Formats: sequence, structure tokens, C-alpha cells
Amino acid sequence: MRILVIGGGGREHALVWKLASSPRVEQIYCAPGNPGIGKIAECVQININDNAELVKFAIDHKINLTVVGPEAPLANGVVDEFVANGLKIFGPSKAAAQIEGSKAFAKDLMKKYQIPTAGFEVFTDPALARQYVEQHGAPIVVKADGLAAGKGVIVAMTLDEAFEAIDDIMCDKAFGAAGSQVVIEDYISGEEASLLAFTDGKTIIPMLAAQDHKRIYDGDQGPNTGGMGAYAPAPVVTDLIRQQVITEVLQPTIAAMEKEGCPYQGCLYAGLMITDAGLKVIEFNARFGDPETQVVLPLLDSDLTVIMEACADGTLADVHIKWKSGAAVCVVLAAEGYPAAYRKEDIIDGLEQAEQEEALVFHAGTKLSDGHVVTGGGRVLGVTAVASDLLNAVNKTYDAVGKISFNGMQYRRDIAYRALNK
Ligand code: AMP
Ligand code: GLY
Repeated sequence: MRILVIGGGGREHALVWKLASSPRVEQIYCAPGNPGIGKIAECVQININDNAELVKFAIDHKINLTVVGPEAPLANGVVDEFVANGLKIFGPSKAAAQIEGSKAFAKDLMKKYQIPTAGFEVFTDPALARQYVEQHGAPIVVKADGLAAGKGVIVAMTLDEAFEAIDDIMCDKAFGAAGSQVVIEDYISGEEASLLAFTDGKTIIPMLAAQDHKRIYDGDQGPNTGGMGAYAPAPVVTDLIRQQVITEVLQPTIAAMEKEGCPYQGCLYAGLMITDAGLKVIEFNARFGDPETQVVLPLLDSDLTVIMEACADGTLADVHIKWKSGAAVCVVLAAEGYPAAYRKEDIIDGLEQAEQEEALVFHAGTKLSDGHVVTGGGRVLGVTAVASDLLNAVNKTYDAVGKISFNGMQYRRDIAYRALNK
């Protein structure tokens, strides 16, 4: 089989790594990839938002399966374009990807089909949004409707913070067109978890539950990031809760998408809050999570190519998915300054030594410069280790992290603390 993976971050490195382990795979290409991916696949410099170029590459290189990593190409209709050309691709159509691309779409869908989520209203008029906030009081959550690189959510603890968020998003257009609508949502509290699932549009099979760490500093302090680390399985998702998510969230969502005329195929990511009043969906993503993928895929025992083909072919009901026992932990190594403006071009030392510790070193924001691997993005590397239990996986991961260094390297030292404290 010949595979094309679209994207070039830590999530895509994990996808390529897992796909490459399949005996069915003859060649993997990755657009644009990164230096870590380049060791196991051929990186090709194609603009990932240029559908025509991607289709042409897939035809010219006789690609049997294309896998989409990030959200932007999905929202840009890459799946529709591939399907129209008779090419097999793993990921939702442009219409189905709205479940991530428009928070109003996702919230309206959940309301209509009684999928548990925080109460909300959608506004296009800032004056009405302010009036609603005034009536409801704080804490309250203000969300830009569209894609805002994970920054469009403001959890306002005071009324003034909420008013400021409405002004920033709707009047000053801090997130551009993504802010022409806002969702204002009830504040809910509890422990968060991510449950990713494979689906062909009819059958939906969840992966192991993971927990991300979104804040930059230990103890969940400081600003939100793309994710500073993760672990799986997350014990907050008990067997009972997992079953509830399947019957109350995943299955109804897939059925709802089909009814709405936008059947959903690919990976559906449910971001959950486990509250005292039961589980609620915080958000859906139309893709694999980053860094959740870096802990979930190392625990997958089955052949990922078989699962992904079945999703694209509509035959997932025939597939049995097996998981390894044990636990996986990923610690993200970030550049100084991240999540604001960050340092770049620092030489990274110790990559091979870390791999000798039986760790997986997934590249996220790296590049090659004069024969050295140097930093290039905010999240630079994701170091993952698998062990028989969570504590051993944590220790193994941090042992490997200790081998790596670059100027300004920052990382959290408490990944998996919630589970270890249970
Ligand atoms: P999102 O981009 O939708 O995942 O939101 C980012 C973060 O904001 C989430 O991971 C939660 O920690 C927080 N958040 C989102 N919605 C709510 C809510 N209704 N109540 C409390 N916190 C929330
Ligand atoms: N880790 C959060 C996300 O992928 O959206």
C-alpha cells in the first residue's frame, strides 16, 4: 500500500510512525512532514491547502490511502476533492468538518439531538450578547464561532472579562471572521478527558480515553496552549462513563450527522467534561488530537491501515480493534516564550540518546539547518514512553526527556498528575 499523510506536526509523526509499522505498507509520503517524519517517510513540499496539487500528487504516485492530520485542509474540502476524483481518504467532508469549524453548528446539533452539553445561546449582535451575559452573570464562557487556533475560548470569571471578550471577538475581530458569531455558554466544572473515535459514518468505535494538559505551567496554571502533554488510558473515564459516552454522545452524534445530510467519516474527537451532574461535551474536533494521538496510537495493537480503510469504505462494523495493556505518557518540550512569541533556531541535543531510552521522540516544530535539527515551532517535540503502568510510563518518559536539551526548553513536570493522585 502507498499512503499519503497530510500535515507536519507531532500528531502526524505519530500517525506516520504507526502506519509505517503495518506489513501492508510499501511507501509513505508526508506533506509537508518534518525532520523526524523524514526518517520514516518521504516528505513532499506541497501546500496542504492546495487541493488540486494534493489530488495530482495522489494520482501521480498511485496513493491507495490518504490520511488528513490537521483541521484546516478538512475545512478546505480536501476530502470532497479526493472523493470526487475516486481517491480513498480518511477524514470528514467539508460539511461534516463543521462540527469543529463552527461551534454554533456543533452546539445547535447537540441541542437538537439531546446530546449532553453546557447550556448556551448564539449571538451575531454584540449588544444582545452583552445583555445575555448581564442577565446570566459570571462565571460564563465566551467562544468565537469559527476556527481560532485554540484561542477563541474565554472562560470569564467576572462580568467585565466576559464583556471584554465579546468586544475583542465581535467588535475588534481578534480572530477575524471566526468572530462574526459568538457562542455564550454556561460555565461547567469537572475533570476533562478526550475520547477519540474511529467512524465510517454508521459504526463508531472509541479509542482509549486520554487526558490533555492545556495550560502551560504545572498545576494547570498560566495561559492555554495547544497541549503540553497527555496520557492514556485516563482513569477518569471509567467503563461506565465510557459506555455512556458511546450511547449518549458518539452514536447519537453520528446518527445526527447522517440525518442532517453530512455523514461523518474519519476520527471524531469528543472533548468531555466529567461533572458532578454527569458528562457533558465541551467540543468536538474533526481530527485526531495533538498530543492525544502521541499516547493513543502507541497503545493500539491493531493495524491502523486496516481501520482507516474500513472507515473510508464504510465497513468498520467488520473490524475488531485491539489495544495493548499498560499506559503511555507524552511530555511536550516547548520553546521559550510559547504560547506567545517564542525562540527559534536553537540546536536540539540528545535526540538519539532519548530514543535509546526506548522512548518515541515525535517531532512537532523542528527543522534542519546546516545538518542540525533545530527548533522551529512553539511545541518542538513530544516525548512518549509506554510501560506496564502509568507511574512507570511517567518515569520512563521523564528519563528520556532528561537526555534532550535546547536553549530555552520548557516543559511541564507533572504530566498525568491527576491520575497518579487518584
Ligand atoms: P475548547 O477550545 O472548546 O476546547 O475550550 C478550551 C478550554 O476552555 C477547555 O479545555 C475547557 O478547559 C474550557 N472550557 C470550554 N468550555 C467550557 C465551559 N462551558 N465551562 C468551563 N470551561 C470551559
Ligand atoms: N489537544 C487538543 C486538540 O488537539 O485539540
